[in-house]
Amino acid sequence: MTTTPASAEDRSDRSAVRVLLRLWPYVRPVRVRLFSAAGVAIVASCTGLVIPLVLKWMVDGPVADRDPAGVWLGALYLLLLGLAEALLFGLRRWLVARPLSRVEADMRADLYRRLQRLPVAFHDRWPSGQLLSRGTTDLMLLRMFLAFPLTFLLVNAVTILVGVVILVLQDWTLGLVLLGPAVPVMVTCVIFERRYAHVARLAQDQVGDLTTVVEESVLGIRIIKGFGRHRSQAHAFRELTRELRGTELRKAGLLATIWGVIVTLPELSIGAALVLGTVQVADGNLSAGTLVAFLSTALALRWPVESIGFLLAMSQEAATATERYFEVMDETPEEETPFRGAGNCATSPHAPAPDNDGIRFSTVSFRYPDAPPDSPPILEDIDLHIRPGESMALVGATGTGKTTLTALVPRLHEVTSGHITLDGEDITAMSRKTLRALVAVAFEEPTLFSASVGENVLMGAEHSAGQPELERALAVAQADFTYALPQGTDTQVGEQGLSLSGGQRQRLALARAVVGKPRFLVLDDPLSALDVHTEAAVEAALRHVLADTTALIVAHRPSTVLLADRVALLSGGRITAVGTHHELLRTNAEYAHLMSGADHQGDER
Ligand SMILES: Nc1ncnc2c1ncn2[C@@H]1O[C@H](COP(=O)(O)OP(=O)(O)OP(=O)(O)O)[C@@H](O)[C@H]1O
Ligand SMILES: [Mg+2]
Repeated sequence: MTTTPASAEDRSDRSAVRVLLRLWPYVRPVRVRLFSAAGVAIVASCTGLVIPLVLKWMVDGPVADRDPAGVWLGALYLLLLGLAEALLFGLRRWLVARPLSRVEADMRADLYRRLQRLPVAFHDRWPSGQLLSRGTTDLMLLRMFLAFPLTFLLVNAVTILVGVVILVLQDWTLGLVLLGPAVPVMVTCVIFERRYAHVARLAQDQVGDLTTVVEESVLGIRIIKGFGRHRSQAHAFRELTRELRGTELRKAGLLATIWGVIVTLPELSIGAALVLGTVQVADGNLSAGTLVAFLSTALALRWPVESIGFLLAMSQEAATATERYFEVMDETPEEETPFRGAGNCATSPHAPAPDNDGIRFSTVSFRYPDAPPDSPPILEDIDLHIRPGESMALVGATGTGKTTLTALVPRLHEVTSGHITLDGEDITAMSRKTLRALVAVAFEEPTLFSASVGENVLMGAEHSAGQPELERALAVAQADFTYALPQGTDTQVGEQGLSLSGGQRQRLALARAVVGKPRFLVLDDPLSALDVHTEAAVEAALRHVLADTTALIVAHRPSTVLLADRVALLSGGRITAVGTHHELLRTNAEYAHLMSGADHQGDER
């Protein structure tokens, strides 16, 4: 099962090396350390290869001559060589540890920044667990790869090469016997690589799916418990873990196969060389010291050869991780510069002074980017003018596209065609920063972050905003309850803090929207969770605030609609009527129907 949007592509011809080369920009700053570390490791590893040569000197010299002093001297040499090897490997570790955690941190920061800048349409498409696993497991795999397999594939290759030269120089016939398995081992490695790449990708995608399920079941724990769904949820989780386990077992199976080949074949050739060498020594064609040196060199090469299997496996996993990382990084973020070119101010011909024009939708159509191309647009030919200082309620049956329409103003989604202008300026001609400073929003789902009440609210204002602004916004939103919280407005809320009621959260989201005294305010059903009395109080305060703010407010209840100067009715993706609440009640049957189902307290006032 592959659920990543990008994993559906055919990747059969991908080269691990080419993929891994994409890491270079991140590795570049630490390249000196990394290369020195590799150099040190090569020296260390080759130091190990000198040990057999000292052994040879000992066996053919002091041992044959029965010279104890010489043997002691040889032992001292061996000790020093061993110490040097250990120290050099220690130095390597010290060289790489710090810079590589920096590489990991940099990549993680870049990923996070990119995720923040990617459009809402991207986040609609990608499961959050897939993103989470890329920022955690995959980056950890990459750091491990840079720390270990990258260096050791090089170190081992050099060591094996030097070792083979030493072997052939000692005795070329025995050397050839040892080299015999080289070709079959290489072929196995190539086949292994290709298969392992596929399974590694599958496993990493499955970890992403699993993360999504865990995340959903934690966030949706109330639903799961409320509906007694923990059994089926646990079942879904077990299914996924079973699949992941199957994939991991396939990985282990592949590793076991290559390990078997890589260990067995060289062992067999060492055995053959031992027999052949002993015969030669018995015949007097070979010195005992040479045979000892030969065999200990061969044994010293065992680890570099055997480790190739898992080094290749780790490299494949790193290539997969790189691929998954760059799948996100390659997505196009929201452009910082206007994408239709500045100066494209699409004001309609009858627009008065364009510098104080309010919000204007001109023949706006919208279709979600992931919708099938032949489906009808959600919004079609929307022409709507909200005059400066006016507040306009947007009413429509559920699912008609009210939320979608509001999301177009702060450019959370891009209009498919048409223009939206704020005071005569096309929103696509402004930088997003300017646009989002002009427009404040509150959505149906009030989201609070793990921070204090004050921080959550002040998020909607400039950095200079402080206690007075906070208190004013809380007063408008009728959020006096915050002062009664354990630490007042310093109380931590959000996922890591105190749980608030739906209506409390809504009022904080509303306070966040109004705290910056925005020129334009877009509210998506902001009072739905409040009781009528609180709603009336919020309305009275909002009227005050809205006096010089141009506002678009999605509303379902007549009481909320009454807050607005005029009402626009959205029906079938079009604005079918605009007027005051009472006008529309009289003249528009659909509007009257929509409002009659809710409550009539609006009419009574
Ligand atoms: N991210 C999305 N991708 C594709 N289609 C979407 C997306 N979000 C919403 N839709 C579809 O767009 C249509 C309008 O949804 P929208 O949320 O704008 O309705 P709404 O008028 O706000 O409804 P409600 O009153 O229930 O809040 C729905 O049919 C919905 O299925
Ligand atoms: Mg909605």
